[in-house]
Amino acid sequence: MQKISGIVATDLCLSRSEKVLFKSANFCLSRGEIVGLCGLNGSGKSTFCYALLGLSAVDSGNIYFRSMNADGRSELLEPSRSMWRDLVYFVFQNPDCQIVGSLVRDDVAFAGENRGVAREILQARVAEALDLVGLSGFDMRSPNSLSGGQKQRLAIAGSIVAQASFLILDEPFAMLDPMGRKQLRLLLQELVCKRDLGILIVSHMAHELSLMSRNYAIHQHKLKEFNPGRNLFESRVFKDLGFCEP
Ligand SMILES: Nc1ncnc2c1ncn2[C@@H]1O[C@H](COP(=O)(O)OP(=O)(O)OP(=O)(O)O)[C@@H](O)[C@H]1O
Ligand SMILES: [Mg+2]
Repeated sequence: MQKISGIVATDLCLSRSEKVLFKSANFCLSRGEIVGLCGLNGSGKSTFCYALLGLSAVDSGNIYFRSMNADGRSELLEPSRSMWRDLVYFVFQNPDCQIVGSLVRDDVAFAGENRGVAREILQARVAEALDLVGLSGFDMRSPNSLSGGQKQRLAIAGSIVAQASFLILDEPFAMLDPMGRKQLRLLLQELVCKRDLGILIVSHMAHELSLMSRNYAIHQHKLKEFNPGRNLFESRVFKDLGFCEP
């Protein structure tokens, strides 16, 4: 299989209930980077994430996976259902939405079972994933007994077992205290460095956004990218959205 290096959206138009969320959006997420997405409540951030997961219809435009050929040339591929399922993993804002197993061990294993990972390999992958997210020793606990931050880590462990290339998290910092936010940030950075993941984070937290490699905002029905080298807080879009320096 070709190595997939990114998700690319071109000229995307998205509406819900006859309300246009945004038009002509261009977006890319590459492996090896963490990208932020902000916007006002109801501006379409979650809907955009569902589109990137292949779960939400778009009015027009395209979503592709970018592949890197052996000769170093890139090519845009039309995603198949299985590519979407295997390559992109989503962590809901409310991690309770994602719990399917009655034990931590089974819950994490489900992400692999769902993708046809053989039983012999699965056990080792689950142990490795729980270790990486700091939940070793919790395997026989009920997921419902975990704290909000631990449930989020449980969901992220699923993405590790699934060996997804891209991880999309919808407001993962919302329920966490400052220490929990820092731990999550470090974990995500580790996944980018060690596993070459591409991560998209929807967030309203100015401090978190200021630490991303790049940022997008949904603003006045457009998806705008912030100029990477520039101070986020000087950006007109950022000020319009009500952000101020932390
Ligand atoms: N299935 C649906 N049917 C009708 N309207 C929908 C549907 N899904 C979303 N919407 C509407 O689309 C708009 C965008 O919703 P979305 O959840 O994507 O916003 P958001 O930017 O994620 O907001 P928040 O910051 O509150 O999470 C909202 O007005 C919402 O009511
Ligand atoms: Mg949302």
